[in-house]
Amino acid sequence: MPIKYNNSKKIFRLDAGSSTYIMQVRENGYLIHLYYGSYISDDDVSHLLANHVNAAFSPLPPSRESGLFSLDTQPQEYSCNGAGDFRISALSVKMPSGNTATELKYKSHRIYDGKAKLEGLPATYVNDDSKAQTLEIMMLDSLSGAEVVLAYSAFTAHNAIARSVKITNTSKDALRLQRAYSMTLDIPRSDFDLIHFHGKHVAERKFERKSLIHGIQSISSKRGSSSHNHNPFTILCDKTATETSGEAFGFSLVYSGNFAVDVEVDCFDYTRVIMGINPTDFEWLLESDQSFTTPEVVTVYSANGLGELSQTYHHLYRKNLCKGPWRDAMRPILVNNWEATYFGFDDDKLVRIAEDAANLGIEMLVMDDGWFGNRNDDNSSLGDWFVNESKLNGDLDSLVKRINALGLKFGIWYEPEMISPISKLYDAHPDWCLHVNGRDRSTGRQQLVLDMSRKDVRDYLFDTMSVVLSSTNIAYVKWDFNRNLSEVGSDLLPVERQQEVFHRYILGLYDLLERLTTAFPNILFEGCSGGGGRFDPAMLYYSPQIWTSDNTDAIERCFIQYGTSFVYPSSTMSAHVSASPNHQTGRVTSFETRGNVAMAGAFGYELDLNHLNDNEKALIKKQVNDYHKYYHIINFGDFYRLISPYENERYCAWEYVSEDKNEALFTFVSIRVVINHTYFVKLRGLDKDKIYIDTETGAEYHGDTLMNAGLRLNGWFGDGTSIAKYFKVKV
Ligand code: GLA
Repeated sequence: MPIKYNNSKKIFRLDAGSSTYIMQVRENGYLIHLYYGSYISDDDVSHLLANHVNAAFSPLPPSRESGLFSLDTQPQEYSCNGAGDFRISALSVKMPSGNTATELKYKSHRIYDGKAKLEGLPATYVNDDSKAQTLEIMMLDSLSGAEVVLAYSAFTAHNAIARSVKITNTSKDALRLQRAYSMTLDIPRSDFDLIHFHGKHVAERKFERKSLIHGIQSISSKRGSSSHNHNPFTILCDKTATETSGEAFGFSLVYSGNFAVDVEVDCFDYTRVIMGINPTDFEWLLESDQSFTTPEVVTVYSANGLGELSQTYHHLYRKNLCKGPWRDAMRPILVNNWEATYFGFDDDKLVRIAEDAANLGIEMLVMDDGWFGNRNDDNSSLGDWFVNESKLNGDLDSLVKRINALGLKFGIWYEPEMISPISKLYDAHPDWCLHVNGRDRSTGRQQLVLDMSRKDVRDYLFDTMSVVLSSTNIAYVKWDFNRNLSEVGSDLLPVERQQEVFHRYILGLYDLLERLTTAFPNILFEGCSGGGGRFDPAMLYYSPQIWTSDNTDAIERCFIQYGTSFVYPSSTMSAHVSASPNHQTGRVTSFETRGNVAMAGAFGYELDLNHLNDNEKALIKKQVNDYHKYYHIINFGDFYRLISPYENERYCAWEYVSEDKNEALFTFVSIRVVINHTYFVKLRGLDKDKIYIDTETGAEYHGDTLMNAGLRLNGWFGDGTSIAKYFKVKV
C-alpha cells in the first residue's frame, strides 16, 4: 500500500514509485514534515528534526509539548500566516475581527484507494497505467473555524504525488482567504539550483538555472494566464545534478491563471517551497459552509537527475492527465493555413492547399483565423462566431465536404474568450467584457477579453460554438487566446468579490472547456495562446496538444522545445514545418531540418503547399512516412535530452527510445557551423546487450558501445543542418 499511518507515532508515510514522503502529527496537533526523497525503510525519522531555535526571536507556542518547539524553525506541512512562523506562508485567513493569524491543528484523516476529482478543476486521474492512493488530513483553525483538508495522492507507478487543499468555513461568520496556496514543502538544506522557464511571445520556456540565495525568490504570473513569461513549473536540484545524476524535485501546477511558486531560504539554510494561485489581486470570500478548492500541484522526485524527472512527468501527463480518445489515438498530420495565407483565403484557396496536402499524405486541413463574422484582419469580429459565407463562397458544410472528399479531415480555429470592440457581440453586450466601470478598456491586438466568470457569456459561447461544430464534420478545434487580462472587473459580482474575478475567470474557462469537450468528445482540441502562452498542465487536460510557439523557425524551436520538454511530453508539443526564409526570423533552414525538428512533437505543416517545388514535395512524402513509422517511439517512448542548446550553442541532440528498447530515433541539429570538428554523441536508454543497426548505413553497434563510447557523426554540418538516425535492434 502506498500510504500508511503509524497510529502510535502518528506518522503518515507515502510511497510514490521509489520515493518516500513522511510527516508526523506533533506537539498538540501540529503537522510537521519529516522527509521527502528516495525510498527509505524507516517510518520514524523524527530524529532528523533540527533542534535549532532562534531563541527569543522564534515564538514558542504555549501548546507545545516540551522544549524549544517553534513553528518558525520546524518544517511545516502547510505553512500558515501570523502565528509564529515568519517564513512564507501558504495560507492566510482573515477573520471577522480583521486579524489574519492562522494556526492549523490536526483533527482527523482518511486514506482511500484512487483519487477524487477536484471540483471544477482539471487534475491528474488514476487508471490502469498508474493507480494511486489518497490521504486526506483534516486540519482545523479553531478560532476562525477554517477547516483545511490537505490531500495527497501517491501514484504507484511513478515518483509523483498530487497535492491540493480544500478550505471550508465551519464558522457562522464569513471568512476571507487572502492566500490559499496548493502546497508547502520544507527541505532541510539549501544547496540547490533553481531551474525555471521564462520567455515571451515567440520565445517561450527558456531554460534558466541559478543557485538559490537566502531570502525569497519567486516565479509568477499575474497576467490572468499561465503566460509566455513564466511557466508554472520549477525544479530544485543538486548543484551538481545533470541529466543522468543528482537529486531533483519538480513542482508543476495544474492551473492556467495567475500562479506563484515562492522559494525561501531561511537563516538556518532550510528551503521552503510554496506553489499555487498568486495571492496578488486574489481574495476569496468564504461564507459559512462554503468551500474553496485549490488547483493541484504535482511534485516529482528523481534521484537520478533531470532526465528521469522529465520522463516521470511525461509518462504521468500523457496517460494520467491528458484524456479522451485523442490521448492514445494517432493524431492526424495537419496543414494549417495561417502562415500560408494569413487572413487572405477563400474556399478555393483552402481546397487547393488541401488538394496538394492529399497528394502528399497529409491528413487534415486546419482553417485558421478569419472564417467568421467580417474578419479579414485582426481589427474585428471576435465573438461573432458565425461563418462568413461570402468569404467562403457558401456554407461551411459545403467547404468541409470538399475537403473530406479529398480524404482530409477538417479543423477550425476559435478564440472563444475574446471580443472585438468592432463586432456585433460588442454592440449587443458592451458589458460582457472584463472592465472596471469608469476606466478606459485597454485593448491588446485590438481586442478585449470576455468575462468568463459570467454564465450568460459561457452559455452564449457554448451555444454559438455548438451550432458550428455540429453543423458539419469538424475533427479538430484550435483554441486560441491572444492577449492577457487587464481592468479585471466583473459587472455581476458584488464589491466584496471583485478580487475573485481572476480565479473565477479560469473556473469559467474550465467550465466551458468541460462542456464542449463532453458535448464533442471526438473532436481533437489543440490549445494555443499566441503560440505557447498558455502551455500548462491544466490546458493539457482538455487539449492533448498545444501549439508550442508562434516561432516556427527550426533553430529557435530547438531552444523552445528543449525547455518545454522538461515537463511536457513530445505528444503535447505541436510543431510544424513552415516556409523558408522563416516568417518570424528570416532565417533560411533546409527542409530536412525543419522536418527533423518538427518531428519532435505533434507534427504538421504551416506553409503554402501550392508553392513548393518537386523536391520539397518529395521530402514531405518522406516526412509523412517517417512520422508514421516513428509515431509510437516519439509519442509513447522515452525522451532523452542528449546535448543542450543552452550549454552548447553550436549544436544540440535528442533521442527517443521505444518502450521495448528495440528502436531508437536520434536527432542532431547543428546550430552554428564548427569548422573541422568531429562530433561524438553518446546515446542513452538503450539495452546494453542488444545490437542496434543504423538503418541508414547498415552499421551495427552494441547498445553499450553507443551509450559509453558514443556515435561519431560523419559529414560537414553547416548552420541549421541536421541528421536523424533510426536504429533498430538486430533480430
Ligand atoms: C495566434 C496563433 C497563431 C494564429 C493566429 C491567428 O497568434 O498563435 O497560430 O492562429 O493567432 O490570429
